[in-house]
Amino acid sequence: MSMEITKHKVLRQHARQHLETGAVTHSYQAGRRDLVSLLNAALASELICVLRYRSHYFLAKGIHASAVAAEFLHHSNEELQHVDWLAARIVQLGGEPDFSPQGVIERGQSIFGTGQNLYEMIKENLIEERVAIDHYKEVLGFIGDDDPTSTALIQKILQTEEEHANELASLLWGLPEQHN
Ligand SMILES: [Fe+2]
Ligand SMILES: [Fe+2]
Repeated sequence: MSMEITKHKVLRQHARQHLETGAVTHSYQAGRRDLVSLLNAALASELICVLRYRSHYFLAKGIHASAVAAEFLHHSNEELQHVDWLAARIVQLGGEPDFSPQGVIERGQSIFGTGQNLYEMIKENLIEERVAIDHYKEVLGFIGDDDPTSTALIQKILQTEEEHANELASLLWGLPEQHN
């Protein structure tokens, strides 16, 4: 086995030289700015998801669909957790999380949606979850082997989005299609 692994002493030297960059170590400089942009795009998408699910929570509550409404609220809170995780990672990478409402739709991948009834709302959320799943898989491909910490974070988020999609699919199967 060849000694590919950088010696501990050298790693320590690099760490000392670059203390000002916080968690960003010498081995990971390339593509960091691009990754911050990607994570900010994901953050914008997650913000839209927080709002869409929250809006649907109140709409569903209004039509006495309490079980579905509760699910929407739960998802909204989990999307907010994703926002926080992404923002924290962006800061660790030396970037600035972009919370500006201006341009959030342009930066994000998600849409706000206009579900007219319960069936449409669930369907809309399911589509957006599927978009998020595909997007996060692309982000993982972009990161490759460069940043295991960001990879672990995206995988953790991706797992929740897959759970969301499964839950919504189950809810959808239990409902008759509505056209009102
Ligand atoms: Fe999310
Ligand atoms: Fe989700």
